Amino acid sequence: MHIRKLTGLFGAEISGADLRDPACFDAIKEAFIQYSVIVIRGQRLTPDDHLAFARRFGPINVNRFFTKLESHPEVALVLKEKDQKGAIGEEWHTDHSYDVAPATGSILHALEVPPHGGDTVFVSMADVFESLSEPVRRMLRGLSAWHSSRHVFGETQGNSEAAQSGRIGNAALATQDVLHPVVIRHPLSGREGLFVNPQFTTRIEGLLPGESAAILEMIYAQCRKPEYQARVSWNVGDVTMWDNRATWHKAINDYHGYRRYMHRVTVEGCALQPAQA
Ligand SMILES: [Fe+2]
Repeated sequence: MHIRKLTGLFGAEISGADLRDPACFDAIKEAFIQYSVIVIRGQRLTPDDHLAFARRFGPINVNRFFTKLESHPEVALVLKEKDQKGAIGEEWHTDHSYDVAPATGSILHALEVPPHGGDTVFVSMADVFESLSEPVRRMLRGLSAWHSSRHVFGETQGNSEAAQSGRIGNAALATQDVLHPVVIRHPLSGREGLFVNPQFTTRIEGLLPGESAAILEMIYAQCRKPEYQARVSWNVGDVTMWDNRATWHKAINDYHGYRRYMHRVTVEGCALQPAQA
């Protein structure tokens, strides 16, 4: 097994590994904790293989909004047909931040990729946090923020292309709001990192609306700098696993006219602890 870093800060590409082989697991888990995003090239996983690999990390979280693989409801479909314009996950986000116990990570397996484009870009939220000044870090450590899914997956999304084409559903279940620390202590690595994102974070608790918006935008402006990002280009067979507690991601929707088809399995997480705890 060979591990090559994707950037100076985070992300790694793993070659020469077989995710079906339990003997590879310890090294892969260690790489996941260390690099936050791991790209394992050249896999051919059946849905059962995919689930077996995911279960070594923990129980499976079944996403209540995504369309499921009929034969394996724990596998969510991430699909854009060639005649569709909108992609799933185009906005910067962290999967499942709207849950009380946000998912540990998502494991995406590429089955069909466009001839160009369709990359996924990630941001390292621990590195962004460490780039801020100490007085700002001190202020952020004391804050909590609300996260919600209702404006993304809720009833108001009924007219979206994703909802109308059946790629997302169950709008009636998008009713929960949850409070998380703005700065968490990562449950596996112990690193401090920011846990807010533009898609699901609605406001910082206890602040005036203008204060909340200004602080979130200050964080987001830092996240948008390429220095804190890593970009993954996909080949058929690749598996990318990312740490939802340590990264943001977004799908680059630049491949209209081509089909992109992936299977996603998500591993359950835990409630998040504030950095000072
Ligand atoms: Fe996502």
